[in-house]
Amino acid sequence: MLLEVRGLTKRFMGLTAVSDVSFTVEPGEIMGIIGPNGSGKTTLLSMMAGLLAPTAGAVRWQGEEIQHLRPDVIAARGIVKTFQNPQVFAELTVFDNAMVATHLALKRSRGARRLGELVGLGRAAERTLAGQVAEALALCNLGGATRQLAGNLSYGEEKMLGLAMALMCRPRLLLLDEPASGLGREEIDNLVAVLTKVHAAGATLCIVDHKVGFLRGIARRVIALDHGEKIAEGPPEAVLENPAVIEAYLGRAHAPA
Ligand SMILES: Nc1ncnc2c1ncn2[C@@H]1O[C@H](COP(=O)(O)OP(=O)(O)O)[C@@H](O)[C@H]1O
Ligand SMILES: [Mg+2]
Repeated sequence: MLLEVRGLTKRFMGLTAVSDVSFTVEPGEIMGIIGPNGSGKTTLLSMMAGLLAPTAGAVRWQGEEIQHLRPDVIAARGIVKTFQNPQVFAELTVFDNAMVATHLALKRSRGARRLGELVGLGRAAERTLAGQVAEALALCNLGGATRQLAGNLSYGEEKMLGLAMALMCRPRLLLLDEPASGLGREEIDNLVAVLTKVHAAGATLCIVDHKVGFLRGIARRVIALDHGEKIAEGPPEAVLENPAVIEAYLGRAHAPA
């Protein structure tokens, strides 16, 4: 197994956002995490990426406990998380946004302490990085938008840029937080095509989605959360028919679609 989550728990004051959750991620798979709004999906993903410290439990990456490591150290090992809403600089071009992400990735891999160590990279290194940026943008179908300001992108394109920026960190395990939320039909088709390419290039994917239609087409295995607890695990079709999962969704405003 690539990653193991064991008894992971996160409490915020009186609220248990994630409660004793255990599951594994196998190398090369595409797995999904579903659950209604507020069921703990983002909190779980954030603990896997080292962005939140668990109250209890462990995250093991290739057998080694990593839950106490800093997020940049975890990212350097290959676990990278995207955000539900893109975190881009509106006043920079698409290309420059991806270039910034490249510098962050370099900072991680080289352990650079000061920006100056990265700014003085030299022409050859800059050219290599620019090539990698162009590659990631093309993979994300943003090749035609590289010179546009990120602030002029549609929401769907902005989310794609967020994905391209995550790819600059060369993830071995990519954690995606609701990549399909807020997208239209065509944008979702585009997302599925891009994620299929990213997966074919060697990345393992763990995808959070509160709706299920999109995951059904791409994930072989999903786990379902409700009130922070894992209530089901299996192929998407089976999990969707699970009475506890139906109950969890019917009890809230959002039915799975
Ligand atoms: N930083 C925080 N402080 C307090 N409560 C939080 C915090 N983050 C999330 N929560 C609560 O934890 C629960 C799970 O949230 P979250 O993981 O964002 O769910 P999801 O991503 O499934 O919608 C919710 O009740 C939410 O309000
Ligand atoms: Mg969330």
